Amino acid sequence: MAKVSRRSEAVDPFIVMDVMAAAAAKEAAGDTVIHLEVGQPSTPAPRGALAAAHAALDVDKIGYVAALGMPALRERIARHYREQYNAEVSPERVIVTTGSSGGFPLAFLASFDAGDRVALAAPGYPAYRNILSALHLEAVDLPTSLADRYQPTVAALEKVGPISGLIVASPSNPTGTMVTRGELTALSQWCDGHQVRLVSDEIYHGIVYEGEATSAVEVSEHAVVVNSFSKYFSMTGWRVGWLVVPEELVRPIERLTQNFFISVPTLSQYAALAAFECRDELDAHVARYKANRDLLMAGLPAAGLDRLTPAQGAFYIYADVSHLTNDSREFCKRMLQEAGVATTPGVDFDRARGAGTLRISFAGSMAEMEEAVRRLKAWRRG
Ligand SMILES: Cc1ncc(COP(=O)(O)O)c(C=O)c1O
Repeated sequence: MAKVSRRSEAVDPFIVMDVMAAAAAKEAAGDTVIHLEVGQPSTPAPRGALAAAHAALDVDKIGYVAALGMPALRERIARHYREQYNAEVSPERVIVTTGSSGGFPLAFLASFDAGDRVALAAPGYPAYRNILSALHLEAVDLPTSLADRYQPTVAALEKVGPISGLIVASPSNPTGTMVTRGELTALSQWCDGHQVRLVSDEIYHGIVYEGEATSAVEVSEHAVVVNSFSKYFSMTGWRVGWLVVPEELVRPIERLTQNFFISVPTLSQYAALAAFECRDELDAHVARYKANRDLLMAGLPAAGLDRLTPAQGAFYIYADVSHLTNDSREFCKRMLQEAGVATTPGVDFDRARGAGTLRISFAGSMAEMEEAVRRLKAWRRG
């Protein structure tokens, strides 16, 4: 039999998918499940984006477009930096991608060579590590703690040995925590001083409750910014995102994306362009997320979940459950089976310490959050 590559066999599964499958099986058996495991908005694309997609279908053949993205969308994204961050970004540095997931391999391949070491916070979004490893790059964990809001620090970087890249996510998945402007500046200066490429995942910008999200474009000329229409813009299934890259990476990424993808789904680019004009609808989602967060932070302690990371942004609460279990996978399984509440075990995000944590997503409706708290309290009482 022909072989299966070692690099693909070495890639870990995304465990939340297993939770979703178990939740679906429970629902198929007639039970109701409250979904606190899903990492996506419970709402569709904003109305203006849907209207733009409908209109485009009538007038455009929806063929391939330029590999780096539709010029109008690249320009609109550049304007977004002026409007939201007061930062000048040339449209030439903006690259439209197939979700931020499509941006990562492009950014990593253009920035690093096989064998290079790339540092990232643990806990963190698992795909970083898995994409790096599939590309024969070494993911180097920076163990973080609540004291530094689970974010990388210059002190931690001083101890990791030689690296070629650093990934920072603020607000972070799974913790919802952020770096301050001062911290991001310090990290980017450290990277510049050590010829390290900073990759800033800003996919949860726009979903911020406390403090202010700084973009790496504001503090660094050399960083790669990764962003997406999936979260704030509520367009996960449209698979459209973007990169802002330094000039020297534009042409390398253009060559890569021409060959990998030809172009990003055209219909989605029309919809994404219109989504920028839908801020009222989108900001209403953020207000709901904030109310959900406050409801869970107030209600979960009575259900025994009282060691919670205060989420500054995104739609996740990271819970320390090490006083309740030493096997978060088993704990989540029992919570699903017995309480009908699905959450994601921390092992997805932190291999070393995730057996004692879980991630709770509050992207759903307020009624679902209320019901989750009610069920978990009843579960706790036994
Ligand atoms: C931190 C982070 N980055 C990137 C992604 C990928 O999202 P997408 O490919 O839909 O843009 C996710 C999805 O959950 C995420 O949480």
